[in-house]
Amino acid sequence: MALTKGLFVTFEGGEGAGKSTQMHLLADSLRARGYDVLTTREPGGSVGAEAVRHVLLSGAAESFGIRMEAILFAAARSDHVEEVIRPALQKGTIVLCDRFMDSARVYQGITGNLEPAFVETLERVAVNGVIPDRTIIFDLPATVGLERARRRAASNSPDRFEKEQLETHEKRREAFLDIAEADPRRCRVVDAAQPPDVIAAEVREIMESLLSEGDEPRSSNAEAAS
Ligand code: TYD
Repeated sequence: MALTKGLFVTFEGGEGAGKSTQMHLLADSLRARGYDVLTTREPGGSVGAEAVRHVLLSGAAESFGIRMEAILFAAARSDHVEEVIRPALQKGTIVLCDRFMDSARVYQGITGNLEPAFVETLERVAVNGVIPDRTIIFDLPATVGLERARRRAASNSPDRFEKEQLETHEKRREAFLDIAEADPRRCRVVDAAQPPDVIAAEVREIMESLLSEGDEPRSSNAEAAS
């Protein structure tokens, strides 16, 4: 079942918050009800963006500096938006995306210390009018997220858990909460320390209220200038 106009929902938060798992659970429950759903992720999600993802996550771009990295994240986002997200929304698909523009605001903008005007300009160019209808922020104390991420990782390198790094993660948590506070219409915060089934129920409820908003005007506009 395709909606007359798609819906764009992004999943954001720090490491180990369980957002990917919850995104797929929501996708399964929507598909079981007959909705057309596309799950995707950033960086990546399109052929061009997946190529850039490799450059970014392998650390190959790190030595070129934070501005270069931020531009690469934006290039990947632009390709993802134009090649995948906008066309899917135009077909009436529900698009669920694991990380999007708020990750850039937080990781490059806040903990990367990039100037806000630079980050805003990149965001505007990359999203080109495709703003999420809803953003679900998975909130977790940095210590818990890091512990979960460590359990998941094959190697338990203690370096990843140095105090400095914990502070960085805590800073990101605060930054995501600040985004939610500044944009309450778009953002919902979920306590990611709860049991997974409780979180899944909350996520379904958030989606339900978005679906029931129906014909009300929304912030996103898949038809925006391309
Ligand atoms: P990924 O392996 O997809 O992990 P996660 O489960 O944390 O989502 O890694 C994505 C990494 O890229 C993550 O550390 C956040 C970072 N990132 C940015 O720094 N800026 C961005 O714009 C995006 C989308 C991700």
